[in-house]
Amino acid sequence: MSSNHKLLDLVAAHQDTARFQDLLWEGSFGDYLELLTADPQISRNAFQRLYDLVESYGTTSYSEYKKTILRYHFFDDPFDNTDAVFGVDIHLMKLVRILRAAALGFGPERRVLLLHGPVGSAKSTIARLFKKGLEQYSRTDAGRLYSYSWVTDQGLLPCPMHEDPLHLVPDEAAPAVLEAINARSPRYPVRQHGELCPVCRHMYRETMREVGGDFLKLQERIRVHRVVLSEKDRVGIGTFQPKDEKNQDSTELTGDINYRKIAEYGSDSDPRAFNFDGEFNVANRGLIEFIEVLKLDVAFLYDLLGASQEHRVKPKKFAQTAIDEVILGHTNEPEYRKLQSNEYMEALRDRTLKVDVPYITRPSQEARIYRKDFSSRTVAAHIAPHTIEMAALWAVLTRLEDPSNAKLTLLQKAHLYDGRAVSGFTEDHVKELRKAASREGMEGISPRFVQDKLSNALVRDPDLSCLNPFMVLNELESGLKNHSLVSSEEERERFRALLTTVKEEYEDIVKTEVQKAIASDDSALSRLCGNYIDSMRAYLLKERVKDPFTGAYQEPDERLMRAVEEKIDIPDSRKEDFRRELMNYIGALAIDGKTFDFRMNERLHRALELKLFEDSKDSIKLTALVSQNVDPDTQARIDVVKQRLIDHYGYCDVCARDVMRYVASIFARGDAKKAR
Ligand SMILES: Nc1ncnc2c1ncn2[C@@H]1O[C@H](COP(=O)(O)OP(=O)(O)O)[C@@H](O)[C@H]1O
Ligand SMILES: [Mg+2]
Ligand SMILES: [Zn+2]
Ligand SMILES: [Zn+2]
Repeated sequence: MSSNHKLLDLVAAHQDTARFQDLLWEGSFGDYLELLTADPQISRNAFQRLYDLVESYGTTSYSEYKKTILRYHFFDDPFDNTDAVFGVDIHLMKLVRILRAAALGFGPERRVLLLHGPVGSAKSTIARLFKKGLEQYSRTDAGRLYSYSWVTDQGLLPCPMHEDPLHLVPDEAAPAVLEAINARSPRYPVRQHGELCPVCRHMYRETMREVGGDFLKLQERIRVHRVVLSEKDRVGIGTFQPKDEKNQDSTELTGDINYRKIAEYGSDSDPRAFNFDGEFNVANRGLIEFIEVLKLDVAFLYDLLGASQEHRVKPKKFAQTAIDEVILGHTNEPEYRKLQSNEYMEALRDRTLKVDVPYITRPSQEARIYRKDFSSRTVAAHIAPHTIEMAALWAVLTRLEDPSNAKLTLLQKAHLYDGRAVSGFTEDHVKELRKAASREGMEGISPRFVQDKLSNALVRDPDLSCLNPFMVLNELESGLKNHSLVSSEEERERFRALLTTVKEEYEDIVKTEVQKAIASDDSALSRLCGNYIDSMRAYLLKERVKDPFTGAYQEPDERLMRAVEEKIDIPDSRKEDFRRELMNYIGALAIDGKTFDFRMNERLHRALELKLFEDSKDSIKLTALVSQNVDPDTQARIDVVKQRLIDHYGYCDVCARDVMRYVASIFARGDAKKAR
């Protein structure tokens, strides 16, 4: 069998024919009423469907500054993971709250939802996620919806706006029908949202005449079918992007005359000679996205306002036409500010609900954006530890306002925002800091800039085997030279200085990491710990220590104890307390029949590591790393450390060697700065 056939089998195995049949469901009007009675959800309006979609993926809650925050899993992008939105949960919560109020009919369903934020803050991503979600949802049982076609002599004539078959129920009968359906108190009471579109109204009138006013006969001319929302097929999802101001044309929004069909139907006022294919028509039952909505010509502003407030649009030559769709606009912060005081905005202001979508201000969340695009799964080269984190840290630093508290650096502020401890600062302080900086996240570097520079850095050298932070920071720096969104020289200088801050932070991190790798020799740590504790016990009990080798008794090794304790800043005056506390702890363990292990006390562990590092720094001759000739003994020790970096810290052969050299050069510089 040829491999082509095998592939075809594979395709066949993966298609779900039952589901496919479901999506092609067709039935009579009576069948539809039965479906509706069994599951009234199928005639939800567009806001209700969107809200239910978002809610259907569930939430987790966490607390931040003593407030409970809900994370909607929908924003993790359960569909294909490419459009997850991180780090702005409070704003997403607000957006979902609006959708909920709209679903319940409390008013927001009569507004334009306006996502507002700086360039590259995930506004389009959120819109894309909604669209993708609606498409998928309409294919599930929970999210299904229906429309209908007219059976004519020329074949089926589908409603061009895929409206709900419920619109066909005659006005006189509607209350009784709805009452029967609503008897089981569905989540949202079923209503007729809107009414027949011009084509269907025309068909309804004509058909009624033919059947002598008998609805039971009319409904024989109706075929109901399931609707699958699809932006590509222009069903239920629309996008509108204003072109330059002179070229805007209302037909793009509300449809156009079909001149070819005028001949067929004999008149340009026959709705069948009109293409109801403007974005508003297409998006009926789902969502329309207005990209850069504030660039919309004033002439169409009123179309937009009517569409949101009245749920109606006005196609050329036809009466107002009902629509049922979510209107989601977005605008960039600069554009918004430019228009803030003009009359266009006046008209728009109280008809829009603005939801801010700022940049992320937590470095660890920002890093998730870049990890999404640049991971070992998607990139051939190895990405050295901290590379993405440092780029993210820089991006966040450019967005933060300088803290007014002189005791706090900008870097520390970023750490605090990330939930890390900075001594002397509590959660309440962080809350205050957040409050004081209300425009934070509305300015600074866009994630898109960083994404571009990361990919530049990756492709610069086709043989690149490992991408390290310096390559990325350099790429960011050179990118700053001609970044169009940097507004002034002063700002450019500030961003550049922040790159230095990030380099210093990186230096600190890798220094500690290499130190740990050198000192993470468990048997050596155990030995050192044992010596420390023997001396400590003898000291506290005023005894002498027996030398295991000679058997001779000696004074406790005060020099060793102090050398360890000084590593964690225990002054001479406090050493007694520290030792006694430790001794009590070890004693309590002994009573329980347990023995002390250096890992049980974090501070002592760190102190021992630093002491061991100090001791082995000379024996390893870290500085030898930067020289050419290394004796075999030193080389062997170096290799052990390198292997630890690879096994436990995520380095590869290349970046492990580089980072050891780098740290060696820091120590060779005689950097006296103490490791934390
Ligand atoms: N909060 C965020 N979470 C996840 N990705 C983000 C976030 N903010 C920005 N991005 C990413 O940055 C890029 C730009 O986002 P985009 O939605 O096009 O921005 P906008 O429409 O606001 O200008 C996208 O790749 C997007 O995934
Ligand atoms: Mg965008
Ligand atoms: Zn119709
Ligand atoms: Zn590497």
